[in-house]
Amino acid sequence: MAKICQTNRNDKIASMPSENSGQQLEKIIRRMTNAISRELMGDYTNMSAYYDAIMTSGYYDYKGIVDSLLSHGPTDSILEIGCGTGLILEELAKRNSALVMTGMDLTQAMLTIARPRLARFRNVSLSLGNVIDFNLERQFSLAFSYGGVWYFVIDGDKEPFMVSHLPEDADNHKGLEYTAKHVRGNGTLLLGVQGPHFDYERVISNGMKYSQKIAPSQNGFTKHYYLDDDSRTVMAQTLHYRTYTFAEARKMLSAYGFEYEPRDDSPKQFLGFKKK
Ligand SMILES: C[S@@+](CC[C@H](N)C(=O)[O-])C[C@H]1O[C@@H](n2cnc3c(N)ncnc32)[C@H](O)[C@@H]1O
Repeated sequence: MAKICQTNRNDKIASMPSENSGQQLEKIIRRMTNAISRELMGDYTNMSAYYDAIMTSGYYDYKGIVDSLLSHGPTDSILEIGCGTGLILEELAKRNSALVMTGMDLTQAMLTIARPRLARFRNVSLSLGNVIDFNLERQFSLAFSYGGVWYFVIDGDKEPFMVSHLPEDADNHKGLEYTAKHVRGNGTLLLGVQGPHFDYERVISNGMKYSQKIAPSQNGFTKHYYLDDDSRTVMAQTLHYRTYTFAEARKMLSAYGFEYEPRDDSPKQFLGFKKK
């Protein structure tokens, strides 16, 4: 019996056409194209397993972010665009169990980490999607993005500029159009504020070395992220960002009904836009 199986298996293998060089090339091209389109869309799959360790080692101040979010006035429903592993939603849900909250994100691997983290909060739901074409079938009184799809960089006294995970201008318009559909009239859009980006490396809480390298590109910059365990690189991710001057960003946001509302607050975690 064993011999027959063996013979049959060998027959099968012998009759299977071996992959020719054209098919191999096609496979390599497909793999490269997938990797490039992931980079172009702000996909965080490569970083996902290490994201929490990197971010909670001082990269973002989640308590401060949520203090600022809640200081923007009463709200009954919140949408986070680019919620990642749910660290902001978790902090929000711990503080207010009455708020209806939805997080949406492009990267399945990030939501896979967010789901168990947020499972105990019945008022929080998650949705996989791309901001350039999503439909949650409801509107929110507050939408925000912190390091997600869009954010502003403020460098000292210089005018803020907007950074987008979407390198194509047309995608930014689509993203704001779909975001606007999800925000009620008189509702608010808050976009996170960060300091200037620069090259650096630092040891994070798990003992690994995080580093980032930034290179200017035609319409913004390219950012390379790495995590090294001794001499072994355990994570490498490259993303392409588009930037807009403050005037360009305000004009584009205004075209989708979002008007800038200056506010005196310090430290500044968000810039706010009122939906007309
Ligand atoms: C730096 S993380 C921020 C996550 C979270 N807001 C936080 O503060 O921890 C950026 C997130 O934006 C998501 N993202 C990037 N492009 C996106 C898009 N086009 N649509 C939806 N989410 C996107 C990524 O998948 C990633 O999870």
